[in-house]
Amino acid sequence: MTRMTPERIDELVLRARGASAAAYCPYSSFAVGAALLSKDGRIFCACNVENASYGLSICAERSAVFQMVAQGGDGILAVAVFSPSAAPCMPCGACLQVLMEFGREALVIGVGEKDVLVRNRVSDLLTVPFSLSSRLAIPGSAR
Ligand code: THU
Repeated sequence: MTRMTPERIDELVLRARGASAAAYCPYSSFAVGAALLSKDGRIFCACNVENASYGLSICAERSAVFQMVAQGGDGILAVAVFSPSAAPCMPCGACLQVLMEFGREALVIGVGEKDVLVRNRVSDLLTVPFSLSSRLAIPGSAR
């Protein structure tokens, strides 16, 4: 299994920033790039792709996960997300739900214009994901 190292983090940061250059975002002008490291050591990059029917747009992170799955990746070790903002953005809730499926302990690296990094685990960012058995697993629920 691939291990995270400072060099790997640096590479993901670079690749996420690079991936944002391909973003198709004429409606938001918010170009996001994601670089995902799979457990087998491959890196999958993606960007957000918007649509005139806004709701059909897809985020960079989900696109990267889908690419990993389509190419036989065996799980997510880490994902870096570049956003064109001073402070790094974290993945949206929909993307966290999808990341959770393939990497609940994956490291999330937020990259802003000033390259400030924030490191978190997917499971720290989405503490109560949707699950088909969620009725049995709501922390603090009396039911
Ligand atoms: N976006 C992402 O690509 N990732 C996120 O985690 C949140 C937002 C995209 C969607 C849309 O194209 C643009 O950023 C503005 O919301």
